Amino acid sequence: MWHRLFSFAALIILLQKDADAQDASYGVDCSFPIFSKDLKCGDLLGDRKAVYDEFMDGCRKFYGAKGNRCDTTEDDRIAMDIYQPQSMVNYTSTGFKKIKAPKAVMDLLLDHWNKNKQDRKEERWPAGNIYVNHWSSPTYMVSVEDHSLRGGGYKLKTDIWDAVKSTIEEWTGMEQNPISMYGIRVYTDGAILNPHADRLPLVSSCIINVAQDVDEPWPLEVYDRNNNAVNVTMEPGDMVLYESGSLIHGRPFALKGKYFANIFIHFEPTGRRLHDNSDEYLDDLDSFLPPYVIPDSPGAAEWSKKNPQGWKKPTPSAPIQQINSPESHYAAAHGDLSRLESALQKDHRLLHKKDNNGWLPLHEATRAGHQDVVEFLIKNGADINARTGRTGEGSTPLNLALAYHGPDHDLCKYLQSLGAANLPDNGEL
Ligand SMILES: *[C@@H]1O[C@H](CO)[C@@H](O)[C@H](O)[C@H]1NC(C)=O
Ligand SMILES: *[C@@H]1O[C@H](CO)[C@@H](O)[C@H](O)[C@H]1NC(C)=O
Repeated sequence: MWHRLFSFAALIILLQKDADAQDASYGVDCSFPIFSKDLKCGDLLGDRKAVYDEFMDGCRKFYGAKGNRCDTTEDDRIAMDIYQPQSMVNYTSTGFKKIKAPKAVMDLLLDHWNKNKQDRKEERWPAGNIYVNHWSSPTYMVSVEDHSLRGGGYKLKTDIWDAVKSTIEEWTGMEQNPISMYGIRVYTDGAILNPHADRLPLVSSCIINVAQDVDEPWPLEVYDRNNNAVNVTMEPGDMVLYESGSLIHGRPFALKGKYFANIFIHFEPTGRRLHDNSDEYLDDLDSFLPPYVIPDSPGAAEWSKKNPQGWKKPTPSAPIQQINSPESHYAAAHGDLSRLESALQKDHRLLHKKDNNGWLPLHEATRAGHQDVVEFLIKNGADINARTGRTGEGSTPLNLALAYHGPDHDLCKYLQSLGAANLPDNGEL
């Protein structure tokens, strides 16, 4: 009798264990399509096929005549889920990590959120975009770079970048350049974020939960290195570091609650190891691909198609982007003519202001290939033969144009037509 009872109890425990294990572990194409639209886990997570069909039908109905775009963007997403992660160099063993956001960052974000949350703006999505089910659960932005919001703008954005950069660098062990910042995005009840890998060059990233009002935690689902699903839940103040180009991430389980507000901050590795102060790493870089794409991989082929000019190598004297550089340099590097005009209207001397590496706005615009900005700067009196470098021994604009864009580029022809000098430099671009 005791014996039978014991085995009965053991059986229950075994069954229970089995159910827990099933509940806690599944791979791709269970909660949502990752590599294939044929979901393969039956009822393990409830009727996920119905959830997915409703998601896609919602998009098609909303976009009406353009509804077929929902299917094209969806096919693109799945194709990218397949080819991109396998083509990436990873800098960490797990690909993700949850920590507390640095206090300096939270202070900036909470201040912006509390001042402006009432003035959130509905986010606009291109027709057929399937990243979020915005057709049934609209998303909103309290953008940190929105000049019309209190305290919003370029300065806040660079302050946030400055405050998270070292965290991302320490975690990946790589020197990083800021690439993009998106948010604060506010998701609403019912929201689903379709699982995806980020487009390049969004490589080393973080998500910060700024504020939420939810009935239950809204898990971020990521796929680990063995393609098993892992739920990561976040409280306000939590920061998830993730290798967003290789780690598939989404929120396939609909949000239950009023809202969830978070921000995405993205960096691109330069190829230089953190604390390596030499420029030797430059010799190890591929002559065409960025350091984080595996040569001869399917992702390398996709990257090359989209970037026929090849990757812009960081130069020894100047990283790709100077986050502490003056507004004029930033605008010139990004081809933002109207922002540049207004910066120069406020202070014409910015035309001749060198950043820490001796670069002028003209050098930035030339390297980035923004012809209209180059012409604008020269017409406004920029020195066509100014040299980079702290002591002015570096490149002229024509040196940069030739090195970055080749002699056939219009920018070279334009500079040559003005008699610009192609000085032999000391190898330091
Ligand atoms: C993730 O959370 C969802 C929703 O709460 C749950 O159904 C699922 O089993 C969880 N998945 C994992 C891997 O824990
Ligand atoms: C990087 O991570 C992705 C996703 O886990 C994986 O598919 C890929 O093989 C990894 N890259 C390398 C070089 O191991």
